[in-house]
Amino acid sequence: MIDEDLLQDESVFRVGTVAAVEGRRVRISVDKLKNGSHLLYKGDIVRNVAVGSYVKIVKGFSAMIAKVDGEHVREDRAAFGGYQRTVDPLARSLDVSLVGFLEDGGFERGIRELPLLDNECFILTTAEFESVHRFATAGVPALSIGVLATEPTQTVAVGIDDIFASHIGIFGNTGSGKSYTLAKLYHELFKRFASNPGFLQRAQFVLIDFNGEYVDRPADLNDYGTAVIAGPPLKRSYALSTKSTLGDTLPLPRAAVHDPMFWTVLLDATEKTQAPFLTRVLTSTYWETLLSAPGDLQEVIADLVIRATKATDPTTDRQISVNFLEEIQACLGEADSEELAALIQEFRACLQYHSKAATYFWQAEHIYWANDASWEGFLKPKLAALRLDVSAVTDVDLIRFKIVLQYYRDIISGFANREHLAPLIKRMHSRVPSIKRLVRISDESVTDAPLTVVSLRDVNLGCVNK
Ligand SMILES: Nc1ncnc2c1ncn2[C@@H]1O[C@H](COP(=O)(O)OP(=O)(O)OP(=O)(O)O)[C@@H](O)[C@H]1O
Ligand SMILES: [Mg+2]
Repeated sequence: MIDEDLLQDESVFRVGTVAAVEGRRVRISVDKLKNGSHLLYKGDIVRNVAVGSYVKIVKGFSAMIAKVDGEHVREDRAAFGGYQRTVDPLARSLDVSLVGFLEDGGFERGIRELPLLDNECFILTTAEFESVHRFATAGVPALSIGVLATEPTQTVAVGIDDIFASHIGIFGNTGSGKSYTLAKLYHELFKRFASNPGFLQRAQFVLIDFNGEYVDRPADLNDYGTAVIAGPPLKRSYALSTKSTLGDTLPLPRAAVHDPMFWTVLLDATEKTQAPFLTRVLTSTYWETLLSAPGDLQEVIADLVIRATKATDPTTDRQISVNFLEEIQACLGEADSEELAALIQEFRACLQYHSKAATYFWQAEHIYWANDASWEGFLKPKLAALRLDVSAVTDVDLIRFKIVLQYYRDIISGFANREHLAPLIKRMHSRVPSIKRLVRISDESVTDAPLTVVSLRDVNLGCVNK
C-alpha cells in the first residue's frame, strides 16, 4: 500500500535532481516551482533551500546530507516558445558539498558514498534538520547551549558525555567568545546537575585560569546569581599571587612537593645536568636521615667547611666556605643563631688565601695555616660550637636546605661543576619566596568541590616583589 503522507512529503520537499558530481562537490538543478523563501506545509513554515542550509540527496536506500555553498541562475531559453503558456524562464542550480549521511535516524559526519546523476534532492524535514544540528547521540543526556543564528527556532544541543569526557578545543579570534563559551558550557552543566548527589560526590573539574576570568569578583560572592559558572558550594577558587602575601595557597600533598619534577619545572632546571641533580637530592634519604639527627648534620657541615678550606685546586671559589655558611644561615631563616652570624663574621675577617703557597690561612693574633696538621684541630671546635636548629625548617624551606647542602657537598667534593649548578641555585633563591606564597603542604584535598578554579593571573615566577 502506498503511504500517502510519504508521497505528499516527497512531492512537497523535493527541490530538484543531481545534475553533476565532481568529487564531494555536487550540482543540483532545482525544480522550477521551488523559487520561494519558505514553504507552508501542514501548518509549519519550512525554510526553502538557500546558501548555508542543507539538502538531502537520496540514492536508493541511503540519504546523504549536503550543505549549500552557492546558487546560480541562468535563463532557460527553451522556456520561450512562441505563443505558449508562460513558464518561469529561469533555471536555478545549486552548488552543494557533501557533509554527511543519515543512518538509523541520526546524522553522521563524513562521506561514505557519492550521489549519482538524477538522484532526487529534498529539503530537510524538521526532524532531519534537528538531527544535523544535534551534537549528541540520540538518547544520551544533552545540554542545550543556545539556538542557531540562522534559525532561531532550532536549539543546539551538545552531548554531556561527548563534551565533558573527552578532549575539546575552542578556537576563534581574540574577543570572539572562547572564554565565554567555556563558561557557558560549564555553567549549563552545573545548573543541570547542581542537585544531583552522584555528580556532587564524583565530579571533579579543575580550571587553570591564566587570566583570572573564572574567579568571582569579591562583591559577587554573596550573590549566587552572578557567580561565574557556579556559586560557592559547588566551586572553590584559589586566587594565587606572587605579588602579595594575601593570596591563597594551593594545598598540595607532601609527595607532590617532594617530587623532583615539581622542582625541575619550577626552577627551569636544564635536562642534562640540573634536573638529574634535583632528582638525586630529592630521592636520596641521606639528608633526610641527617636532618632528623641535628648532631650528625652539624658534624657533616663542619667536615665540609674544613674540606673547603683545605682545597688546593686553584679553580675553586676562594669564598666557598663563607658562602656555604651564609647559605645555611639563609635557609634557616628565623631559626638562625647568633653563633652562626658571629662565626660567619669571623670567617670573613680572618680566613684568607695565600696565592703563592696556594693555601688558606687564618689571620688572627696567631697565624694558622690550612696545610698544617693543627688546622683541623683549630677549626673544628669553632664549628662544633654552633647550635643549628633545623626543626623549625619545614616544607619548601626544607627542600631548599637539602638542595643547598647537596650542592655544596658536590662542589666541595669535586663531584659537580659549579658553572653547571650555580644558576640553578641562584634561580632557586629568587623563586623560593614566590613558591612559598603559592603552595603549602597539606593533606586537605584541592578538589573538594566539584569545580576548582586556580587563578594564575597574579602569578609570575620570574620576579617577585618582596
Ligand atoms: N554568546 C555571547 N553572547 C554575548 N556576549 C558574548 C558572547 N560571547 C562572548 N561575548 C562577549 O564578548 C566579549 C569577548 O568574549 P571572550 O572574552 O569570551 O572572548 P575570547 O575569545 O575569550 O577572547 P580572548 O582571545 O581575548 O581571550 C566578552 O565581553 C563577552 O562577554
Ligand atoms: Mg579568553
